[in-house]
Amino acid sequence: MNIQVLLSEKVSQALVAAGAPADCEPQVRQSAKVQFGDYQANGVMAIAKKLGMPPRQLAEQVINHLDLSGIASKTEVAGPGFINIFLDPAFLARNIDEAVKGDRAGIAVTANPQTIVVDYSAPNVAKEMHVGHLRSTIIGDASVRTLEFLGHKVIRANHLGDWGTQFGMLIAYLEKQQQENSGDMGLSDLEGFYREAKKAYDEDEAFALRARSYVVKLQGGDEYCRKMWRMLVDITMKQNQATYQRLNVTLTEDDIMGESLYNPMLPGIVADLKAKGLATESEGATVVYLDEFKNKEGDPMGVIVQKKDGGYLYTTTDIACAKYRYEKLHADRMLYYIDSRQHQHLMMAWTIVRKAGYVPESIPMEHHMFGMMLGKDGKPFKTRAGGTVKLSDLLDEALERAQRLVAEKNPDMDAAELKKLANAVGIGAVKYADLSKSRTTDYVFDWDNMLAFEGNTAPYMQYAYTRVLSVFRKAGVDESSLTAPVSISDDREALLAARLLQFEETLAVVARDGTPHVMCAYLYDLAGLFSSFYEHCPILSAESDTVRQSRLKLALLTAKTLKLGLDTLGIETIERM
Ligand code: ARG
Repeated sequence: MNIQVLLSEKVSQALVAAGAPADCEPQVRQSAKVQFGDYQANGVMAIAKKLGMPPRQLAEQVINHLDLSGIASKTEVAGPGFINIFLDPAFLARNIDEAVKGDRAGIAVTANPQTIVVDYSAPNVAKEMHVGHLRSTIIGDASVRTLEFLGHKVIRANHLGDWGTQFGMLIAYLEKQQQENSGDMGLSDLEGFYREAKKAYDEDEAFALRARSYVVKLQGGDEYCRKMWRMLVDITMKQNQATYQRLNVTLTEDDIMGESLYNPMLPGIVADLKAKGLATESEGATVVYLDEFKNKEGDPMGVIVQKKDGGYLYTTTDIACAKYRYEKLHADRMLYYIDSRQHQHLMMAWTIVRKAGYVPESIPMEHHMFGMMLGKDGKPFKTRAGGTVKLSDLLDEALERAQRLVAEKNPDMDAAELKKLANAVGIGAVKYADLSKSRTTDYVFDWDNMLAFEGNTAPYMQYAYTRVLSVFRKAGVDESSLTAPVSISDDREALLAARLLQFEETLAVVARDGTPHVMCAYLYDLAGLFSSFYEHCPILSAESDTVRQSRLKLALLTAKTLKLGLDTLGIETIERM
């Protein structure tokens, strides 16, 4: 049930009947304050201006034509020409009764399923995943889960950094290690491995020479170099896969679509860009000049697609990759979860993609960018020594802290259950802290805030869920015994019911904008509304069995909604805490 869509249609019809053009925007939104009703239509003022009519007069006429029987109990004109809509308690009751059935909390599967490619996580080979990849991984996965829940076909694309000139050096160093100590690969510390390889490259002439020859050989498909390269990729991804598992992220090894995948396409792309007159030679390199982007001098900026030495670039790969996603994966839509510093890079690559006609304008390509993770000091998140924070260390610390916290709260819990709980709370806290902030801004990583049992945090949400469940435990009923229809008489019941029925609207926003914080805010608000409902509307001691059943249904739908909502975020729920 999407009330916003339903009301928008109704208000549109009334607007047209009152003389507005057919494409008018009714702008129906959830009201910010209870006294303005459940929804507001805010579009009247702008339309009245176009029609040259006093806005309140148009609003009155719209209300006269507005048929909301069975939906709203009251509509009114407010302020300069807003229309406030108050939902009918009988409408709420009927829809709660529908939604509570089944296990999707009333959420329909989309009538227009799309194939959506989601580019996220994208760590680099022979490098440790860092906190920047954490944001992409967590936010991207929440978006994927949401789209799949709504019934879209999602293709997860882990754009692994598995190609480039650094591989000569990495292969040469792996070889050196194999010769020196046959058993240990020395890759358990990826960061250290990379650093040492670089050092050997900079300091040892013979090593550097070998490294350079390996790059050429690797690109030429040499079997030995391919094998060594594969080994580097596999070791890195084995470690990353373990991290995904810990994070309860849905990426698997089958989702790896690394940069190397597009390598065979690159010569063809460059030749085609030249043939189309988009790319030109400039000092030996091949460059696309873009009028859409100007440098400081006001001249069109150039994007190098092939270097003087014949090498290709990150941008060339992203051009090929978009083409591939459209032609081979048949994407109807592409989402990229990459940090905001790569925005210009993507915009340039996509401008070329559009100009070359590789992906038609009708297929949206969206950069769902995010800001940086900052320390409490407001500077980029670093270890005390100033290094990048290893993801695995961060998660270890989360578990440790959560373990202490939940042990304190549950002194009698047995060790195995405690561990499970600590895992859900600790990992949940790290993820939720990120998900609950608007992704476009930087965010401050703060252990104390994220592990607090109050406020918009994972522990609070997980706890809220267990509290709703405990209502059922106390009532000793199961779902099938709730046969009486829902009836809404108290304001708090009405508020909770209306919010419950807004789950679908919330999912739709997250699916459209890739903004999981909207879901977090919704669930947080829902938990709060449940609390005040629970305080003021007795359930177990309700005045009649019918009221008791009706209220239990509201509680049941709250539990289902919280669980499903947290599922779309990739946050685990527990039964007891
Ligand atoms: N591997 C890159 C990095 O670590 C991110 C890749 C993002 N995806 C893409 N299609 N460019 O910065």
